[in-house]
Amino acid sequence: MSKEIVVTGGGGYIGSVLSNHLLKQGHKIKCIDRFYFGFEPIQEFLGNESYQYLQKDIRSVKEEDLTGADIVMDLAGISNDPASDLNPSLTRKINHKGTVNIAKMAKVAGVPRYIMASSCSIYGASDGAKLFEDSDQKPVSLYAKSKVAAEKDVLALGDDDFCVTFLRLATVFGLSNRMRFDLIVNIMSMYAITKGRILITGGGKQWRPLIHVQDVARAFNLIMESETKIVNQNAFNIGSNNQNFQVATVGRIVQQTLPMPIEVEVVPDDVDKRNYNVSFDKVQNSLGFKTKYNIEFGVNEIFSAITNGLIDPQDHKTVTVKYYSQLIHMDKLLSQIKLRGRLF
Ligand SMILES: NC(=O)c1ccc[n+]([C@@H]2O[C@H](COP(=O)([O-])OP(=O)(O)OC[C@H]3O[C@@H](n4cnc5c(N)ncnc54)[C@H](O)[C@@H]3O)[C@@H](O)[C@H]2O)c1
Repeated sequence: MSKEIVVTGGGGYIGSVLSNHLLKQGHKIKCIDRFYFGFEPIQEFLGNESYQYLQKDIRSVKEEDLTGADIVMDLAGISNDPASDLNPSLTRKINHKGTVNIAKMAKVAGVPRYIMASSCSIYGASDGAKLFEDSDQKPVSLYAKSKVAAEKDVLALGDDDFCVTFLRLATVFGLSNRMRFDLIVNIMSMYAITKGRILITGGGKQWRPLIHVQDVARAFNLIMESETKIVNQNAFNIGSNNQNFQVATVGRIVQQTLPMPIEVEVVPDDVDKRNYNVSFDKVQNSLGFKTKYNIEFGVNEIFSAITNGLIDPQDHKTVTVKYYSQLIHMDKLLSQIKLRGRLF
């Protein structure tokens, strides 16, 4: 049955793929986003009568913005460690308070279900032992800490009438309308394709769980359709036991997948403290979730998109921290040079 789904962050890397997936399943989408990456990521949906968008900050979303929705999928926010460090207080306001605001407004509006995009990075620095949903959380970064704080406050809002679920996503890879070349598989693929080299940073021994962006969309869909008694006030690691890799291994897979010779170089730098080897048993055993797409698939689709000119590897929007830094810089500059609010 067709559902009315609010997707916050629907103009982002995952959100645009998720919206496409849900539209194809016959659902209606209302995207709420500030659209920091512009409107290109949602261009293909404009004109689709099942799609609408609202350009709004999640911190100021009100009850009436969510009224009538069957479910809210909450993905908006500052989406990685370095971008979160640009302005720590703003990150807390958006990733923690903004997320809680969406959940609160959803509850007040009588929306029965809410799913939050959380992250496996909340487990933080570990010794390489398997991490389960109830494992200790030792977030290393401000980004991960903001996810922990948001999960805690949103969990407290859950009850029999308001089903809240946390999807702790593995690191995502694959193609999207808002391409990101700051995620390990994507960046390694892009460098290998454009420069013939892969750089392994942070030592290479650190574990990373990986998941294709289309599988993330499938996971949100599955949670939405699952019985509330299984998913309410519950967290699930979203990924695959077959796709936990050490970073150096990811480099080798990318190297072996591409059709040209690629050099792999381990850069001598600080050891990456973020190390997480995650168990995905729970989502597989309780909901039957299995990923469909592997790293080789993601590398090949990036290879063909770059070589066919469908994506520009130099596009400054693809590196989140660089792009947000530019926006902050331009914002300051414009406020200095504008006269009576006008540039020209
Ligand atoms: N990509 C990953 O590997 C990954 C892994 C784990 C968790 N996540 C989480 O998934 C979610 C989506 O990540 P993504 O990779 O699509 O990131 P993204 O940066 O591409 O998308 C985030 C979207 O949120 C919007 N946004 C930012 N601040 C906002 C605000 N104050 N109000 C309204 N909209 C705002 C941006 O405009 C953007 O469209 C994030 O919450 C992220 O933390 C992502």
